[in-house]
Amino acid sequence: MAKATAYRTNTCGELALKDNGKKVTLCGWVQHVKNLGGLIFFYLKDRYGITQVVFDPKNDADAHKAAESLKREDVIQVTGRVRTRPQGQDNVEIITGSIEVICDRITVLNKSETIPIDIEEQTTTTEEMRLKYRYLDLRRNCVQKNIITRHKIVKATRDYFDKQGFLEIETPILAKSTPEGARDYLVPSRVHKGKFYALPQSPQIFKQLLMLSGFDRYVQIARCFRDEDLRADRQPEFTQIDVEMSFVDEENVYEIMEGLMKDVFKAVDVKIKTPFPRITFADAMAKYGSDKPDVRFGMQLKNISEIGEKSSFKIFTETIKNGGSIKCINARGCAKFSRKEVDELEKVAKIYDAKGLAWVKVEGTDTKKKLEGMSAKFFSEELQKQLMEKVSANIGDLLLIVGDHKHHIVDIALGQLRLFLAKKLELIPEDEWSFIWVVDFPMMEYDEDAKRHIAMHHPFTSPKDEDMGMLLTDPSKVRAKAYDLALNGVELGGGSIRIHSREIQENVFKAIGLKDDEIKSKFGFLLDAFKYGAPPHGGIAFGLDRLAAMVCKEENIREVIAFPKTKNAESLMESSPSNVDNEQLDEVGVKLK
Ligand code: AMO
Repeated sequence: MAKATAYRTNTCGELALKDNGKKVTLCGWVQHVKNLGGLIFFYLKDRYGITQVVFDPKNDADAHKAAESLKREDVIQVTGRVRTRPQGQDNVEIITGSIEVICDRITVLNKSETIPIDIEEQTTTTEEMRLKYRYLDLRRNCVQKNIITRHKIVKATRDYFDKQGFLEIETPILAKSTPEGARDYLVPSRVHKGKFYALPQSPQIFKQLLMLSGFDRYVQIARCFRDEDLRADRQPEFTQIDVEMSFVDEENVYEIMEGLMKDVFKAVDVKIKTPFPRITFADAMAKYGSDKPDVRFGMQLKNISEIGEKSSFKIFTETIKNGGSIKCINARGCAKFSRKEVDELEKVAKIYDAKGLAWVKVEGTDTKKKLEGMSAKFFSEELQKQLMEKVSANIGDLLLIVGDHKHHIVDIALGQLRLFLAKKLELIPEDEWSFIWVVDFPMMEYDEDAKRHIAMHHPFTSPKDEDMGMLLTDPSKVRAKAYDLALNGVELGGGSIRIHSREIQENVFKAIGLKDDEIKSKFGFLLDAFKYGAPPHGGIAFGLDRLAAMVCKEENIREVIAFPKTKNAESLMESSPSNVDNEQLDEVGVKLK
């Protein structure tokens, strides 16, 4: 609770029956003024709560007169006495609901014009207007609650790492490009015309260098900047809980981060169970069609390639001939879906590049189940039996099948369909916190556009010892010492054990297609550093905004950021980005096209 200041003795969320008769001075914003002929009532609000204030002309005529002209959101100071509310008039909805302050002095600290947005809890204002007037939107209780929860998470994080012997060290914002897979935000240099700093996509290289310097346990609540396509869980500037440790293996990192999650959730009164389960990347893709599987519900993907291959459906038989796969999910009880609903499912699968969606319904009797519907005729009685067995089908189920010569299309399309159905069928338990480590990521993925391999995590990630030999010969087979933590189907964080040998680091750069001169100009300083006793090290970063959004049960991370950007990376409040005058451009040596 806030201490008394020159302006107030108490906050608006503090007074209770025990304060009956006390003389108090409160400050806050005026809400809901009610003039009941003689008596004037209103709420006074600050971030701690709401207190009912009463003006009685019999008590103080001047104060009453001042109260008559009060308007919503005026900021005022009131002095008066606390009294219990008359019997039956308690308001259980607010903390101070059993008292009110009978006022004898009022000072208007500042009048407010009529506010341009609706700042009730269930606001009717568009997000655009909310962001334009964010300083007003931030007065809403629910938004304030989110910001307070975020603070608690940060505090628990700092306390936890301090207890564990970590040092919080800041790293530069004006720096050189860090390869996290997005575009950089560039800052032109005035002193070195024609040269640019890049804002860090993460502190990755700096934290590794800190390991070299001997700071074996580093943490930072770090601002990161990425110029990438935005969506609900991405902002151009966001915050990471960034961690690096020396002389550790994967297990040590898991243990530290599980401890962090325990403390963070404890700070918001949620008990979670550790250790977290683990799944390999390959299994996550195969069973859930996602590298951040939501394991709060079943509906796993089942490989039915062998059954599809024997069917008379040409698309399936060709798919297998071309080295592809066929998988199925069982939408339990969904045989009742209308044609329109099934078509909607096909549309979802097609968004994720499936060429189509085959489906069959399970009908018949308990002793004789059979498949009906679009694709049933392609499966003999025996194959139907095998298919139903494979996906544990019961009468009333709807089986959804995707085949493609690209395995990842099958996995991702069905994985997304699985998530879509879970939402539609309300299969996801609301209050469950389902953490899972995803491990053994591939080191590289092939980028069709760039026609070369790119690092799946980042190029400082160590290959698995047993796969090291394939680095230059068969890079797509190499697995990495990389791990992600997923929570309820959201990627909360990712990290890896790093390369600490100059030679291996150079080989990885080569495997992702970097030429010698590029390696030298981009990462020469890191390779140089590796000459001087780099310790084995590893780390991880969690997205603080994502974590806070999940704890606050918000779908969009904008709801837990005080001043977020829009989907178009704009701030509507101060209108940024904005034009600058020619003089400023000249100074930094930039000419606009
Ligand atoms: P990575 O790129 O996986 O790893 O980022 C770590 C976590 O940061 C969050 N995140 C974002 N949150 C909001 N908006 C964004 N645009 C955004 N991008 C990422 C996610 C993600 O899991 N240096 C490595 C970590 C390491 O290896 O130690 C890194 O940045 O929650």
